[in-house]
Amino acid sequence: MSHRIVVSILTLSFTLAACSQEPGVASGPAAPEQAAELAPVYAAPSEQPVDPFTYANYRQIRVRHVDLDLDVLFDEKVLDGVAVLDLVYVDSDATVLVLDANDLDIKSVEANANGAWSAAPYTLGPDDPVKGSALEIELPDVATQVRITYRTSPEAEGLQWLSPEQTAGKEHPFLFSQFQPLYARTMAPLQDTPAVRITYSAKLKTPPELIAVMSSAQDPDGVRDGDYSFDMPQPIPAYLLALAVGDFGFKAINDHIGVYAEDYILDASAAEFEDTPKMEEAINDLYGPYKWGRYDMIVLPPSFPFGGMENPRLTFLTPTLIAGDKSLTNVVAHELAHSWSGNLVTNSNWRDAWLNEGFTSYVENRVMETLYGEDRAVMERSLDLDALKRDVAEAERPELTALKMPADIAHPDDAFSQVSYAGGMFFLKFLETRFGREAFDPFLRDYFDQFAFKSITTEDFLNYFESNLWANNQDAVTKEEIDAWVYQPGIPDTIETPSSDAFAKVSAQQMQWLAGEVAATDLKTAAWSTHEWLHFLNTVPDDMILDQFADLDGAYDLSNSKNAEIAFVWYMKAIASGYEPVLAPLDRFLMSVGRGKFIYRLYAALIEHGRREWAAEVFARARSGYHPIAQRRIEGIFAEAD
Ligand code: BES
Ligand code: ZN
Repeated sequence: MSHRIVVSILTLSFTLAACSQEPGVASGPAAPEQAAELAPVYAAPSEQPVDPFTYANYRQIRVRHVDLDLDVLFDEKVLDGVAVLDLVYVDSDATVLVLDANDLDIKSVEANANGAWSAAPYTLGPDDPVKGSALEIELPDVATQVRITYRTSPEAEGLQWLSPEQTAGKEHPFLFSQFQPLYARTMAPLQDTPAVRITYSAKLKTPPELIAVMSSAQDPDGVRDGDYSFDMPQPIPAYLLALAVGDFGFKAINDHIGVYAEDYILDASAAEFEDTPKMEEAINDLYGPYKWGRYDMIVLPPSFPFGGMENPRLTFLTPTLIAGDKSLTNVVAHELAHSWSGNLVTNSNWRDAWLNEGFTSYVENRVMETLYGEDRAVMERSLDLDALKRDVAEAERPELTALKMPADIAHPDDAFSQVSYAGGMFFLKFLETRFGREAFDPFLRDYFDQFAFKSITTEDFLNYFESNLWANNQDAVTKEEIDAWVYQPGIPDTIETPSSDAFAKVSAQQMQWLAGEVAATDLKTAAWSTHEWLHFLNTVPDDMILDQFADLDGAYDLSNSKNAEIAFVWYMKAIASGYEPVLAPLDRFLMSVGRGKFIYRLYAALIEHGRREWAAEVFARARSGYHPIAQRRIEGIFAEAD
């Protein structure tokens, strides 16, 4: 056995012990999928099912570091360059490395064995619409690295290339990525599964007038010269790789927090997010120090398909959060909270997405409570509960309404309904109430420590919960109660009913208005927060008549609301009732906002309520401005309706 093999095996045991819970090592019976009765211990199965959304043979070989050297070619809408992957053998007999690739143009593959590079035979498998293709590389003995020369496709689903006209500044192009849940493989050949964590380094070559940033260490005051280097020394799953290139500025909020944005919105962004340091402090106090160095945010062009994305050290945000009154900054609290739940402790499979999103929604709500008080936190939970009920009612099958998602979900997106978000949050709220904050807060703090930089399953959490919280207070909850939340469909009856006095007052006024006792102009809305408006609009009856729409619109110009959340709910109601004056402003909204949470539902509602043609015409005009992920999703919505 050569010296090199010994080294790789030594590294391996370190890697498995330190960097991943996966594959689970605990013995004992496998946790039941839909357990009617739970085993006394929530043992992690000794063989977790492999992530079904990856081709990677990460049970045999693990990539532990990726080095990228890429030219950013705006004219061709292509990233062109080289990826070098460092390998660790889990199975020392493995001779084939399987990577995920999607829409990549592979030019050459080489392997490094004993310090010498040589061409490695490879094949690219058939293209699956969800998973892309398997890149199978035959390795020479003791290969420790592979080097792949490749180009991305202009249609890469994880990258959006914006022309200068599609930016606010109109002068320079813009590029940004969105890799969660499985689009990193459209940027580079990788083990694109949350079960595998990598460190990375990267060089990006861009036009010299542009700035490039990544989800890594970077200097916000660095020179703009078109040559950028990045280093991410902490192991992260591939979906947290991220990059953005464009003409944007930076404004510091404190010594380690700041915001990047196009000029037109830079000051407004820094003002909107000025409470971020207090949010960080709140989470530090609850769950231990922020572990990632800097925390910056970038406000992207309006086509960014999400509210926010928790790319480490550099949260990506939609400009629709800049409402002017900090009313939508729970999204920042949420993305920041992912620095603990999701980025530090990561779901190892999308079936366990609630470990990311539910924990994060819970932490988010605690932050809102700390900064703005119980009333706001309760209002947000109350709105969340409405959304949870809606998603549970609309679920395609009951299995999708339990926290642990079924093994056969068709796409990871299926794991990102309100079941994982609000459902997960309310489950943790339930535990908090039963065990008390004095026990629950330190428990969560220890959980984040225990599993820091690891990828884990629901069962890993339950085991840890059982021995570290439940064991100390066995009467606090029953197995049946836990089981109902995690494995049984539907909303458990142990869920809290958030009761907001402010909302009760809004509802009382709403009744008077609906009964015709007061006109819309007489509603006492001056002090209403965005949340109170959302409650008012969410709860008006579905059969509101057109005069009532006109009354509200006349009094508050809701069709032109600058607050995207309010506008969205108003449009949904108006579409369902056929209130036509909304169509022109809705057209403008759909042309200028690409945030999926809004536009997917709007298109679906338009189709459902007899405006398919109108919607198709708007989509035809808006399409090229949408992110590829959104384009594909909306095409699916139209196709489904046919
Ligand atoms: N990680 C998600 C965004 C995401 C989910 C990207 C699934 C790809 C697949 C992010 O943290 C998120 O949840 N964003 C929310 C905001 C939050 C306050 C609920 C959003 O984008 O609306
Ligand atoms: Zn999230």
